[in-house]
Amino acid sequence: MRDVSIIGIGQTPVGEHWDRGLRHLAYDALAAAMKDANIERPDALYVGNMLSGEVSGQAHLGPLIADFAGLRGIEAIKVEAACASAAASFRQAYMGVASGLLDIVIALGIEKMTDNVGSALTAGLASAADADYEVIHGITFVALNALIMRRYMYEHKLKREDFAGFALNAHANGAGNPNAMFQRPINKDIFMKSGMVADPIGLMDASPIADGAAAVILCPTDQAREFTDKAIRIKASAVATDSLSVHDRRDPLWLQAAEDSSQQAYRQAGVSPQDIDFFELHDAFTIMAALSLEACAFAKRGQGTWLARDGEITPAGKIPITTRGGLKARGHPVGATGLYQIVEASQQLRGEAGHNQLKNVNLGMTQNIGGSGATIVTHIFERIN
Ligand code: COA
Repeated sequence: MRDVSIIGIGQTPVGEHWDRGLRHLAYDALAAAMKDANIERPDALYVGNMLSGEVSGQAHLGPLIADFAGLRGIEAIKVEAACASAAASFRQAYMGVASGLLDIVIALGIEKMTDNVGSALTAGLASAADADYEVIHGITFVALNALIMRRYMYEHKLKREDFAGFALNAHANGAGNPNAMFQRPINKDIFMKSGMVADPIGLMDASPIADGAAAVILCPTDQAREFTDKAIRIKASAVATDSLSVHDRRDPLWLQAAEDSSQQAYRQAGVSPQDIDFFELHDAFTIMAALSLEACAFAKRGQGTWLARDGEITPAGKIPITTRGGLKARGHPVGATGLYQIVEASQQLRGEAGHNQLKNVNLGMTQNIGGSGATIVTHIFERIN
């Protein structure tokens, strides 16, 4: 297997892009990444996307985007793993380069959600859950997470306000990110008074519906210097899966696939959680941030919210998370999110995170979650000095 590095990154602002079609938005991120890496023609393009069929009536994104970007003829394939689609596409690109089959590969995440904000979008998001055994009962994706959060609060004797720190940190960091959908800080009062979406999930517990695209370019590490002097090395890449339905899990309050993929990643990288300088986790809902911190061994079971309460997830804390706003404030264009996380981790490690720049960072971890934990993709990145 070959060592692989990121040589180019690109992203669009996250928001409501009614004036840009799927292919245009994808092109914006792809062109920015190609310019950043100074490359003209990659060997392959892997496109992470969840909802293009349901929302835009458009499947077959690989050749659509390759052709529009002037890359007609290259290998170009869509990868779908619900909200983990983008990190899954990155994993495909990584495997292509690591195996020696491909040299220069683009992983692109693209999602346009706001063209259809009605029941089709709600149904599309719910399709990440088990259609036969969960969705058939009428449950939405937010409601499914609300059930998990309610049970967690009951088991660990917590109140809604115990989750506020996740949203406050995300919005404070989003305020420093020009590509974030929400660039205004919030306080605890705003968190508590925000409307209820699905009890106990309030507006400030939930990530927003958004459009966006993000892309990265990979090549073998020993060729990276030909393109850039700020390559970011992929130190670990791991995917694990769990049952689609929450009720089929031995423990509905434990993200087994997060534990499995993070443990694999720690082993591959030869590091422990204490060595990770920051963690771009999947805070689609505040409960997911708590569960992810626990499953990845940053907190003991039931104590994920303690890190938020004690300020340990802020830029000055023990394990900074969602450093550029996370899903909550940067926004969550579902099938693109995993690549936003990877672009943001690269920015931190390159020293290009602007107002959000952390000091002395060498190792960053990203984790992208599909469904309520059925696909979990974990990566660890390292700055090459
Ligand atoms: N956090 C903070 N503010 C939000 C927000 C969020 N998640 N979602 C919307 N807003 C703001 C909007 O900016 C708008 O503000 P304004 O009035 O100042 O312009 C206002 O709230 C109303 O926006 P609107 O788009 O009408 O919200 P909505 O009620 O249609 O949708 C949610 C809000 C929470 C229901 C929607 O964002 C949602 O469903 N989120 C979850 C998406 C999801 O399940 N993703 C998959 C997870 S894996």
